[in-house]
Amino acid sequence: MTDLATVSFEETDLEAIATAEGRVAVFLPPDGRLGREARRVNRLTRGALARLAEDPGFAKMAPGDCRTLAYPAGMAAEVVDVVLLPRRPKPDEARRAGAALGKLRGGKLLTLLVGTTARAEDIVLGAVLRDYSFDAHKTKDKTAEDAVQTTPAGIRVMAGKPAELEALCAGPLAVASGVFFTRDLISEPANVLTTTEFARRLTELAELGVEVEVLDEDALAKLGMRALLAVGQGSDSPSKVVVMRWNGGPSGDAPLALVGKGVVFDTGGISLKPAQGMEDMTMDMGGAGVVAGTMKALAARKAKANVVGLVGLVENMPSGTAIRPGDIVASMKGDTVEIINTDAEGRLVLCDVMWYAQDRFEPAAMVDLATLTGACIIALGHENAAVFSNDDILANAFLRAASDEGEGAWRMPLGQAYDDQLKSAKADMKNVGGRPAGAITAAQYLARFVKEGTPWMHLDIAGVAQVAKDTAFAPKGATGWGVMALNRLVADHYETKG
Ligand code: BES
Ligand code: MN
Ligand code: ZN
Repeated sequence: MTDLATVSFEETDLEAIATAEGRVAVFLPPDGRLGREARRVNRLTRGALARLAEDPGFAKMAPGDCRTLAYPAGMAAEVVDVVLLPRRPKPDEARRAGAALGKLRGGKLLTLLVGTTARAEDIVLGAVLRDYSFDAHKTKDKTAEDAVQTTPAGIRVMAGKPAELEALCAGPLAVASGVFFTRDLISEPANVLTTTEFARRLTELAELGVEVEVLDEDALAKLGMRALLAVGQGSDSPSKVVVMRWNGGPSGDAPLALVGKGVVFDTGGISLKPAQGMEDMTMDMGGAGVVAGTMKALAARKAKANVVGLVGLVENMPSGTAIRPGDIVASMKGDTVEIINTDAEGRLVLCDVMWYAQDRFEPAAMVDLATLTGACIIALGHENAAVFSNDDILANAFLRAASDEGEGAWRMPLGQAYDDQLKSAKADMKNVGGRPAGAITAAQYLARFVKEGTPWMHLDIAGVAQVAKDTAFAPKGATGWGVMALNRLVADHYETKG
């Protein structure tokens, strides 16, 4: 597992700056005026910092940009990172400044001279979030902590009011632990993260006070989840549904339900996918991964809300026992589905878990997340997740939360004409609606399993769960997209205050 960097807080000690090892980061406003810590670094480096600030190039730097002074004479540090930060940074600017440092840290000790800098908690969060690498299966070239044995590792924050800052950072660091949980789950290959192993990792959330229940195939069959079981029937890994309950709110308050698609590997089944790029389908449990990470974040920061997370864990494999195109299965709701394409499996999993979530928990609202369609990537690329909803208040609240957290999200339409594309000659519906509007018809399919009166939102995260390029807050690979936005949605709309 990838651990968060250890973060420690102490009062600014100007003497200790000279002897700090590893990297030392100092923050300068656009006018280049040196604060107390910067003046100390400047004295130690015999004016190098002031020369950097006076360089015309400095004024051209964007907020969060970083320049380095290497092997400064007069200091024990290998590098001084000089970061441009507006005097009153926006949360996003402060996070980006931190992220620039987190990217560079490379397992070495990083001392952040934040002093009385505004938004220091966002600097710390950015540094921690960007300082991620999935090295679980590397025996060489690790970038993580244990690869660097010579210097003490971690992030050391020197602040004017360290206790206050530490308290401000507690929530964000809890959320970061949820983001890392999601990234680790998404990054794991399918031979490691089987349905059984996924369920086991979720049971560990019990340590944080989450009630975790694992439903096995017998239990799912008794509940009538035949659509979900149909997807898993070609695999040797047993299908499971895991229910995670965080009861931090008033007892009796209807929970928010989060439902995740957890296809640990999607070969497409008998409608087999092409070989090219199929390895990416290790991330097809991304929706479940985000639900798990959000539950961890909420529990770790002891959110005063009732939230239940449900994930459908299956593997979509071709075999002698796999579902076939043309098969007709009955969902838990009772509606029958003609399976035209076994590669449109996510919706078969979600429809049963969504029905079960509403049946059992009568949630105040339900949000499902899934790496559901390639069509979503065609529509929105890797910048935005697609948001579908039957409730403007819920959708707008989420769009605001996502924008506040810097996670891209864009609303898409629903409508009767799209739903009509799902008509089947033999059953109540088909599992595909043809090529036009593929992300929307997938959402329409799910909408058929939303009960009258349940505010519902579907997030298609196919494009954002895992990306091929570094983002501001994550190296290329699993992003953890959605944990911060959902955490903010809960904080702003489902939490009892005080
Ligand atoms: N898991 C895929 C969607 C996907 C594709 C996610 C690429 C991430 C990256 C999903 O199960 C799928 O195969 N969808 C099909 C649906 C089609 C058969 C209607 C698709 O998008 O091609
Ligand atoms: Mn598929
Ligand atoms: Zn899939």
